[in-house]
Amino acid sequence: MEVVPLGSAGQIAAVAAGIVEAVVRRKPAAVLGLATGSTPLPTYRELLGRHKAALGPSYAAVTCFNLDEYVGLPVGHQQSYRATIARELTDGLGIGADRVHGPNPSSDDLPIAGECYEALIAAAGGIDVQVLGIGSDGHLAFNEPGSSLASRTRIKTLTAQTREDNARFFGSLDEVPTHVLTQGLGTILEARHLLLIATGETKADATAAAVEGPVSASCPASVLQLHPHVTVLLDPAAASSLDRLAHYREVYCAKPAWQGF
Ligand code: F6R
Repeated sequence: MEVVPLGSAGQIAAVAAGIVEAVVRRKPAAVLGLATGSTPLPTYRELLGRHKAALGPSYAAVTCFNLDEYVGLPVGHQQSYRATIARELTDGLGIGADRVHGPNPSSDDLPIAGECYEALIAAAGGIDVQVLGIGSDGHLAFNEPGSSLASRTRIKTLTAQTREDNARFFGSLDEVPTHVLTQGLGTILEARHLLLIATGETKADATAAAVEGPVSASCPASVLQLHPHVTVLLDPAAASSLDRLAHYREVYCAKPAWQGF
């Protein structure tokens, strides 16, 4: 796991966008895994800015898979993750809706919607780079504490904490769905490169538990320690509870230019 303490959310956005672009340059038909929430937005804006300035790669052959989706919102709801990703990133990059997939909460057969989604990911050849945020309780995607480290895409119930955290996107807490379809932790571990971004003080303890704590279902994001290729980009506030912060800084400062991410 490469932990990279950076100076600001803006610096994170530049590095994260560079990582995503490098994957697409290397593999024009890359498969991108996309998270929603506030954390990746600066990165998505950076990607859009570079694309509009014709500095980015072509996304003409790229396919995307969303990490998760609310269950129970009307189709096309502005806070559905499908609508959010289209609005915040993929429309602007020219990636058509037919190439942006998400777990289907309107499926007639909701219990097997997860299985169907996994089959779609597999048929696309798997995810090349998966963008991830972390919950203040250590959740990864919507795998809340206690989720199996081997879990697959399925329906989960959000914790009260996560519903409160996400109420800012809705008119009131009551409007936040109680259920979601989320990639499982075992599913996420199959992506080739995991890119976790954490910003702000509310993420400091969860980040420290994920990076330096024991691997445990009590902190679902700690499952990242089992993956061979993880990059963790942190702003100073999110990095503030790490015991080995000085070491991560030394490693990043001494990072050879040829190494990449
Ligand atoms: C979003 C997702 C969640 C968020 C997490 C952090 O697709 O799966 O795990 O990454 O809740 O959300 P923000 O970034 O809003 O703090």
